[in-house]
Amino acid sequence: MKALQEKAVKVLEKNWKDSFSIPCEGLYPFQWNWDSGFIAIGLAHVDMEKAIQEMETLLNGQWDNGFLPHIIFHTETDTYFPGADFHCSYLHPAASKKYKSTGMTQPPVAGFALHEMYKNSKHQKNTLSRIAPLLDKVYKNHQYFYNHRDIHNEGLVYIYHNWESGTDNSPLWDDIFSTMESPDFTFERRDTTHVDASQRPSKKEYDHYLNIIEIAKEHNYNDEKIAQFSPFLVQDPLFNTMLIQSNASLIEMYKIIGNNEDKIQQLEAWQQKSIPSFNKKLFNKELGAYIHYDLRNEKPLNYISSSSFTPLFANIPDKEKADILVNTMMEKFGNDHQYLCASFDPTSDLYNPKKYWRGPVWINVNWIIYNGLKKYGYTTIAERVKNDSIALVEKFGFYEYFDARKNEAETGYGGNNFSWTAALLIDMLNDN
Ligand code: SER
Repeated sequence: MKALQEKAVKVLEKNWKDSFSIPCEGLYPFQWNWDSGFIAIGLAHVDMEKAIQEMETLLNGQWDNGFLPHIIFHTETDTYFPGADFHCSYLHPAASKKYKSTGMTQPPVAGFALHEMYKNSKHQKNTLSRIAPLLDKVYKNHQYFYNHRDIHNEGLVYIYHNWESGTDNSPLWDDIFSTMESPDFTFERRDTTHVDASQRPSKKEYDHYLNIIEIAKEHNYNDEKIAQFSPFLVQDPLFNTMLIQSNASLIEMYKIIGNNEDKIQQLEAWQQKSIPSFNKKLFNKELGAYIHYDLRNEKPLNYISSSSFTPLFANIPDKEKADILVNTMMEKFGNDHQYLCASFDPTSDLYNPKKYWRGPVWINVNWIIYNGLKKYGYTTIAERVKNDSIALVEKFGFYEYFDARKNEAETGYGGNNFSWTAALLIDMLNDN
């Protein structure tokens, strides 16, 4: 295990670019929002200074209204599409004047990432003084979410683009895309010059992705207009779980810091509204799992994906629901021939074991599920998720995603030397 940790550290060293990490060489040459949070969790075990800088650099990209973009374009390069010139973040009046970025966000992991860093710090007092200003930025980010993205005032925020979900091309979105007539854009894909096209989203899917951005740009990334006009408007259980756990982390950190009663009160009020709504609206009894809700077309998206199991991480289900959830996971995703946890229902016709978020195992979601299972005392299954994650990396390397089928898997997929795979492996290896 020591050798594996050393290899993981090397991956992180290679992907470090002065003040932040890239997810991997070639495919992703900038700073990604949720990648940075997961990377900082791993870095905290081996180089706290870098972990803090990672989060400082990310949060320096925050807009005046609290919004935190999904990509911050620190450098100029034409090896990625769509880049800064396509996204045009300057259209929004509150956008950072210093950093070009996208006008969409990603699952809000910063709150619990900072908390994890603190918990693993050997010099907690020093760490706390460095991260205290960052916690205030995260708090402002959560204010942005509840003030601008909770249109029914129910404590559940929306995402307006599949790239905001993090689970980019999941079959979850197929129904929504089938309602859209997107133009046949002319553009040069760059991702498929780095990775085989069979492992990446299709051209037709990219047309939808670009179309949603064009619509948001027509409205200068104005949230209220996006809520009114975006063809994609979804309440996502993974995204809302990240926000709810980050709220909980902020509460704990503010209690340690002291003198933050107003913020704690507000955070608790959000929790009290969000968690019951989440259970009421996003739990499907027949499926025995949490599901996504399509706000634009006012209908639940009744599919099981790895996101369905993540609410364990934020203590959202009661024990009864948690039992149901874990049963569903083990029945459909967890037989002896499968590594946990496929990103989409392996029993579905839409499952594709090689294609990005349409089936493969992702280590960041495994890390979330592993920690969620532990919170409820499902120790044996938690260990299985951890051991499957380690086995995949030992066998194939620090890939971006992996085939969940034990007998068929021959290689890892997507980018190699992938930062969050390395970072979260380090965290799991150090967690006994
Ligand atoms: N993951 C997306 C991509 O493939 C962007 O966040 O480029």
